[in-house]
Amino acid sequence: MSEIRKAAVIGAGVMGAGIAAHIANAGVEVLLLDIVPEGATNRSAIAEKAVERLLKAEPAAFMSKRSAKLVKAGNIEDDLPALAECDWIVEAVVERLDVKQALYRKIDAVRKPGTAVSSNTSTIPLAALTEGLSDGFRRDFLITHFFNPPRYMRLLEIVSGPETDPATVARVSAFADVKLGKTVVTCKDTPGFIANRLGTYWMQLAVGEAFALGLTVEEADSVMGRPFGIPKTGVFGLLDLVGLDLMPHVQGSLERALPKDDPFQKTVRDIPLIRTMIETGLIGRKGKGGFYRLNREGGGKVK
Ligand code: NAI
Repeated sequence: MSEIRKAAVIGAGVMGAGIAAHIANAGVEVLLLDIVPEGATNRSAIAEKAVERLLKAEPAAFMSKRSAKLVKAGNIEDDLPALAECDWIVEAVVERLDVKQALYRKIDAVRKPGTAVSSNTSTIPLAALTEGLSDGFRRDFLITHFFNPPRYMRLLEIVSGPETDPATVARVSAFADVKLGKTVVTCKDTPGFIANRLGTYWMQLAVGEAFALGLTVEEADSVMGRPFGIPKTGVFGLLDLVGLDLMPHVQGSLERALPKDDPFQKTVRDIPLIRTMIETGLIGRKGKGGFYRLNREGGGKVK
């Protein structure tokens, strides 16, 4: 069974950057790639800024200065050929099927056969992600769903398809277990897998009820935090951490994938404040702040 000696993470956002840092913590060199920003002179600016953020992250994303040096920032256009040197490529770009699939085609054209490719998707089924891709790609493809923040959250959901090579799954699972310290849970290829199927359901209900009752985010989180098994953040704090911009994509994928009479469909509510927050960039920690900043400015009520 070949080892993972070099990896790439594509998408240097909240999750991709954190995953890259944690792979580097295992002593493995990682290429962290993002798109080329329009009109930019520095073509790798997005990934470079992500590495700068990682160095200041609280709690710390890197275990040592040595691991920080193992992350090399680049961009998906100039550094695409370098994917041929990688043993594992993790895709962590925006939660959009069309964007992910276009990227897989580029990856498939350059990767060496046998290179594991995995997606960090929250909700998109593996069958949809691999539709129309080559047989070889489907053999080496799986979902590795990390949680935020990737260094600290123990759970890793792994989803494989009927065509995925069991040796690829075994190799990635062993690396995640032994080198990344994850508890690997194998999931069926169902909408939202396990954690997001349950999590999105209760998050919808909790947010809806907090709004309906006019609770402050602190009041809601004091109940939906530690007592409910979400350490420190609570439900609104978790939304700020995850990023509100992700919510419509996750919600949309589940709405489309689940039967019309599934109980989830009844919990989906259009909350105008959340829509406005996304439109104005108040998407959480990765934006201009989220519920907690809004709460301070808005006098305490979630309205
Ligand atoms: P994000 O919005 O923070 O970052 C996405 C990054 O992908 C951006 O930097 C963007 O420029 C880049 N990107 C977009 N298209 C690209 C392309 N074609 N090539 C290269 N880079 C591209 O998103 P986030 O939150 O990190 O989510 C990434 C993935 O991880 C999504 O599939 C999401 O569902 C999943 N996820 C997110 C979690 C969270 O807590 N935010 C938790 C678990 C999974």
